[in-house]
Amino acid sequence: MERVPVKIFEDSEQACKVVARRIASLVRERSAHGNKAVLGLATGYTPIGIYTELVRMHQQEDLDFSNVVTFNLDEYWPIEPTSIQSYHYWMNVNFFNHVNIHRKNIHIPSGSVAEGEIERHCREYEQCIRDVGGIDIQILGIGRSGHIGFNEPGSSHLSRTRQIQLDKITRMDAASDFFGEENVPRLAITMGVGTVMEAREIVLLAFGEHKAGIIRQAVEGGVSTEVAASFLQEHRKATFYLDEAAAAELTRMFTPWLNGTCRWDEVLERKAVIWLAEKVKKPILKLTDEDYAENSLGGLTRARGRAYDVNLNVFRRMMKTITGWPAGKDGPVRILILNPHPDDDVISMAGTMMRLVEQGHQVHTAYMVNGYLSIYDHDVLRYAGFVKEFTKIFKLIPERTTTIEEHIEKFLRLKKVGDIDTPEIQAIKALIRRTEAVAAAKFCGIQDKNIHFLDLPFYKTATVQRFSIGPKDVAPVRELLEKVKPEMIFAAGDLSDPHGTHRLCLKAFLPALEEYSAAENLCPDVWLYRGAWQEWLPEQIDMAVPLSPDELRKKRFTIFRHESQKDRAMFPGPYDSREFWQRAEERNMATAAIYDSLGLPEYHAIEAFVHWPTPRSLQEICQLSRPNGQ
Ligand code: F6R
Repeated sequence: MERVPVKIFEDSEQACKVVARRIASLVRERSAHGNKAVLGLATGYTPIGIYTELVRMHQQEDLDFSNVVTFNLDEYWPIEPTSIQSYHYWMNVNFFNHVNIHRKNIHIPSGSVAEGEIERHCREYEQCIRDVGGIDIQILGIGRSGHIGFNEPGSSHLSRTRQIQLDKITRMDAASDFFGEENVPRLAITMGVGTVMEAREIVLLAFGEHKAGIIRQAVEGGVSTEVAASFLQEHRKATFYLDEAAAAELTRMFTPWLNGTCRWDEVLERKAVIWLAEKVKKPILKLTDEDYAENSLGGLTRARGRAYDVNLNVFRRMMKTITGWPAGKDGPVRILILNPHPDDDVISMAGTMMRLVEQGHQVHTAYMVNGYLSIYDHDVLRYAGFVKEFTKIFKLIPERTTTIEEHIEKFLRLKKVGDIDTPEIQAIKALIRRTEAVAAAKFCGIQDKNIHFLDLPFYKTATVQRFSIGPKDVAPVRELLEKVKPEMIFAAGDLSDPHGTHRLCLKAFLPALEEYSAAENLCPDVWLYRGAWQEWLPEQIDMAVPLSPDELRKKRFTIFRHESQKDRAMFPGPYDSREFWQRAEERNMATAAIYDSLGLPEYHAIEAFVHWPTPRSLQEICQLSRPNGQ
């Protein structure tokens, strides 16, 4: 079903390293013959690992870029090259500033060219590519609109470098970079599909589950102007490099039995049975041998016995996921909930949090970033006004509050689109989120002393650099682990947030966990929650915590404690106009409805969790630390 070669990697890092090595070998081979290597480059979250690896190779392995010529795919318009959102700035910070590429060999479409000059500029860009003999390797990401470069739906395969109007979904995805969707430029200059297709070799990369849907369309759907990436099916040397999450909706991953024979394991068996039950609209225990045979699943019943056995096996496993005692009944457990943003815990698992507290466990919750980006400026003014009046009433240091208030008013009055807030304003915004998080956590019964704010530094810079996690981000997580010594950890597993913050927080958490486990000989039980951005599929769920109507209502009020996020969140994510409490309720009720339709007990709502598969090294550490490897 795949109409273009696809390589699937365990994670993005591995994929990026392979691509970086391919680029390095081209650069070396060309330079050995005294020739230039011409690279087509992309920006964005996806290719960052390629640049990191190339910079490393330059610094540690003498990879020489002096014979390299580069052409970037695109640039916003209008935008100054010095603007932190510009692709000029991005490329300098992430790549060009760290390698020995001659400045004259770098080409990026201009975001500051005058309107009347755009056509000429685009023609010249094309000519420049032709003059150096065309692009050897073109690196591409893919937007959720299916764009490559900024070739939005409707772009023809003949299109050349030109100005283009950005799609709604693209602008929403860029909203966080520009501090609000309304600030994202409406236009850009991009190489055309035709320009890209002339590259001798094309590598498209996509990582994360938020790309899975569009990847399926680009790889398995027909060639269409609606999905520019689908044109790559017609290129003689284009390959898609995906991580498992981005590949998840490809038939070979999602419903491999439709592709022919497959190797059955427990997860696949569960997936197939749930898929079949939903397809034929029957509860699991009513599925017959004919249902299996008529829906390409005869292989499963043949491998496992009869429909009766398969049904029972999956049914029992699903039944086992349901528990009203998420941390068990064997005495108090030390629990740590790790949240990327200050409201992730309550959106995703307020019901479970309250239950854990009620059941006598020691529950800690920690907020990894301060979340200041999601606070509107008008809220800062409101709080500043409040503090001024407050200090007047109680006759407290009025001079200082007036100075701060004046600073705020002046800055916000002069603030231009995309300007980074001053440290004072950032601090006030972070404080608003902090007080809301405390109110919500306390409403769930968590004690003040068990509420932690990590304030990871990657988030505070709020520029393109936030894309990389460093030791300074890992250290506070590790320190917290050492302090709390959790036996059970909950972390965010919904990695499709528009900002990418959830992915980055997980990246900070995993090495911290590994270091902590190795040093302390402890192996906490890790669970992933979801809620704000997506929900687990039923076959993925390892723990299902039922909520009564009253508990769900209480959860709603907990989420309401995040007043600043109510009514109109700054970053709602694409195509979901629901508020977070509505998403949470609908998702929890939908999970309960699925359980019900599969013939499992009928609940009002369910919060779902997935057990984090212990990474190999961690597993080994755990085996070492436990007698008999138990
Ligand atoms: C960037 C570009 C875009 C991105 C795409 C994916 O130069 O041309 O097509 O590759 O929008 O962006 P990320 O990688 O940020 O998900």
